[in-house]
Amino acid sequence: MKKYAISLGLALALSAGASTQANAQAATAVVGDAKAAHDKIAMCVGCHGIADYKASFPMVYRVPKLGGQNAQYIITALQEYQKGERRHPTMGGIATSLSPQDMADIAAYYSNQK
Ligand code: HEC
Repeated sequence: MKKYAISLGLALALSAGASTQANAQAATAVVGDAKAAHDKIAMCVGCHGIADYKASFPMVYRVPKLGGQNAQYIITALQEYQKGERRHPTMGGIATSLSPQDMADIAAYYSNQK
C-alpha cells in the first residue's frame, strides 16, 4: 500500500511537470488561427474592407489594404501602433485592445486572403 502511494505520487509529479512544459510552449509560440479571427476582424472591415476608402478624421488617410499582406508585417505594424512607435489615433486605440493571440489570428486571416 505504501509502495503504491509513492508510485502514484511520482506519477502525479511527472504528469504535472509535463503539463507545465506544454503550457510554457503554448505561451511562447503564438500560432495564428485564421478561423478564430472572424469575430476579431469585425471592427477592422469597416475601414480596411472598403476599396479605396479614405478615413477622413482627423485627417484624410488612405486606409492600407490588409488582404494578402505578409502576416509578420501585420503583427509588427499592430505592435508598433500598440507601443506608440507608429502613430494613428484609431489604429493606436484598436491595437491596444488586441492580445498577441488576437494579432496572430488576424494576421493569419488577412495573409491568407488574396
Ligand atoms: C477607423 C478606421 C480603421 C479601423 C476600424 C481599423 N483601421 Fe487599421 N488602419 C487605418 C488607417 C487610416 C491606417 C493607416 C494609418 C497610418 O497611416 O499609419 C491603418 C493601418 C493599419 C495597419 C498598417 C498597414 C500598413 O500597410 O502599414 C494595420 C496592420 C492595420 N491597420 C490593421 C487593422 C486591424 C487588424 C484592425 C481591426 C482590429 C484595424 N486595422 C481597424 C484605419 C482603420
